[in-house]
Amino acid sequence: MRLAGKIGIVTAAASGMGRAGALRFAREGAAVAVVDIDAANAEAVAQQITQSGGKAVALAGDLRRDDFSRDIVQRSVKAFGGLDFVWNHVGHPGPAAVERIDMQEFERAVDLNLRTVLVTTEAAIPEMRRRGGGALLYTASTAGIQGSTYSPVYSAVKFGVVGFVRALAKRHAREKIRVNAICPGTVDTPMLRVFVARPDSPTPPPNDVEALVQQRGGLNPTGRPAQPEEIANAALFLLSDEASFVTGVALPVDGGATA
Ligand SMILES: NC(=O)c1ccc[n+]([C@@H]2O[C@H](COP(=O)([O-])OP(=O)(O)OC[C@H]3O[C@@H](n4cnc5c(N)ncnc54)[C@H](O)[C@@H]3O)[C@@H](O)[C@H]2O)c1
Repeated sequence: MRLAGKIGIVTAAASGMGRAGALRFAREGAAVAVVDIDAANAEAVAQQITQSGGKAVALAGDLRRDDFSRDIVQRSVKAFGGLDFVWNHVGHPGPAAVERIDMQEFERAVDLNLRTVLVTTEAAIPEMRRRGGGALLYTASTAGIQGSTYSPVYSAVKFGVVGFVRALAKRHAREKIRVNAICPGTVDTPMLRVFVARPDSPTPPPNDVEALVQQRGGLNPTGRPAQPEEIANAALFLLSDEASFVTGVALPVDGGATA
């Protein structure tokens, strides 16, 4: 098992890639705190893990709140006795346009892509130091390594995530705290449906969102969207000791989209 005896947190773990990661990490031997605002589905993921003989706890709350972003660390430590990794996966698409920008959507994007991960990181580092090291992983996006024509605010905050990762990786390398970003391309999750339904998206109109998902997936060289488990596999590597010399990377998992 690749995460045997490790203790970790996954945010936005009630759905999509976060859910796939929580389930996979638990199968690889980790005790997992399943964090999400969707209490029922977070509990369902935690139960699925415990019913299969794994260790999990559901922590339900709003990651736009600093107290909750901080508390998830203390509550995980209390539940399992320490902290070895965090996958800061939560994010938000933000407003589509810059003209006539919706500032509330802008603030939501800043809060859920940058602010919460900063607060959780601040709380996590001392806990990792106590364990002699750890792994921090952040979900950026291909939009965090190249400009997204259709989601400029999203690009801005995801570039911010990558910058934060690169700086932290250098700052904490001697403490054996590795810090990496994962940059998914088009992944078949509910959030993808928000992007494809945008009025100025490159895969416009038909009203059939499912057709749009396949059409958008078809824009990368593989010709299909990723499944959440394919991103979770890459996250597993970056969080495991197999990646012991990997820090400060922004790894595209995008079917060749940014090649
Ligand atoms: N889906 C894609 O194509 C894609 C591509 C690149 C990057 N991403 C990034 O992946 C991450 C999540 O995407 P996904 O596609 O796995 O998502 P998803 O839509 O499957 O799930 C998002 C989860 O976040 C939770 N959430 C939303 N607001 C929250 C809040 N305030 N507090 C706590 N939890 C909250 C939701 O309840 C939901 O369970 C984001 O960082 C996103 O930017 C997604």
